[in-house]
Amino acid sequence: MSAGRARIAARHSRSPPARFAVDAPFNHHPVAVFDSGLGGLTVLRALRQRLPDEDFFYFADTRFLPYGDRAEDFIRQRGEQIAAALARRGAKALVIACNTATAVAVESIRAASALPVVALEPGVKPAAALTRSGVIGVLATTRTLHSQRFQRLVGDHASQYRVIGQACPGLADAIERCGPDSPEVERLLDLFVTPLLDTGADVVVLGCTHYPWVAGMISSRLPAGVTLLDTGAAVARQLEHRLETAGLRGGGGRLTVASSGLPAEVEATVGRLWGTILPVDHWEPA
Ligand code: DGL
Repeated sequence: MSAGRARIAARHSRSPPARFAVDAPFNHHPVAVFDSGLGGLTVLRALRQRLPDEDFFYFADTRFLPYGDRAEDFIRQRGEQIAAALARRGAKALVIACNTATAVAVESIRAASALPVVALEPGVKPAAALTRSGVIGVLATTRTLHSQRFQRLVGDHASQYRVIGQACPGLADAIERCGPDSPEVERLLDLFVTPLLDTGADVVVLGCTHYPWVAGMISSRLPAGVTLLDTGAAVARQLEHRLETAGLRGGGGRLTVASSGLPAEVEATVGRLWGTILPVDHWEPA
């Protein structure tokens, strides 16, 4: 075995600590962030920009990526299981960095959790404030678009506008497995963005946390002047507010990444998307 591979194997054979730093005061415990995979890193980037002194534990549920084509019951149960395991590990707050998990499971996760839970949903409300043409495009997973929560969101904030939901099955998965610049992602973007072209949409909502990884490729397929909306910065403001009102600010700016998938593979994908290599631990919420 090469020295590099041996180092990776040694790192991955080490079990991550069962709990976060138990001796630290609770406000110095990490904020836990989770997604079906590495889309939530686009949210994490905004969280770390706004709250650079907080510690974060990021969990990618790679074993079950993508959530977007799975049954609601599965996503709900898995979301509840992850949230409970993160709380047992000592997280001080939880961020659901996944539109699909929020759409299906946020109510039951909040009902079962004593922690502050911050979630995100497609930016239909800010899109309604921005549109001049009265037509809003939403790119999201099939499960998000079919959820009652999404229907309610549109009814509450954009009922006077035409909202075109474009499901993008396979896109989140392809961004991770093939890479953002791959021919497969190009093909899927052609397929999913083209139907928005002649609709007059002047705002397009990125309703899945994976899509900011290909925002430039989406923009280049749309007419000049179309605004793309991503919700990472709004989630960061919301988290800051929740931590402050709960007296939970504090930490050392550390980041730990874990996944239910194969760490070496996930590590390579993280490197490609995040731009630097981050060690990835194996973790299975139980
Ligand atoms: N990143 C997730 C979201 O925001 C879901 C992608 C998937 O697992 O299908 O919806």
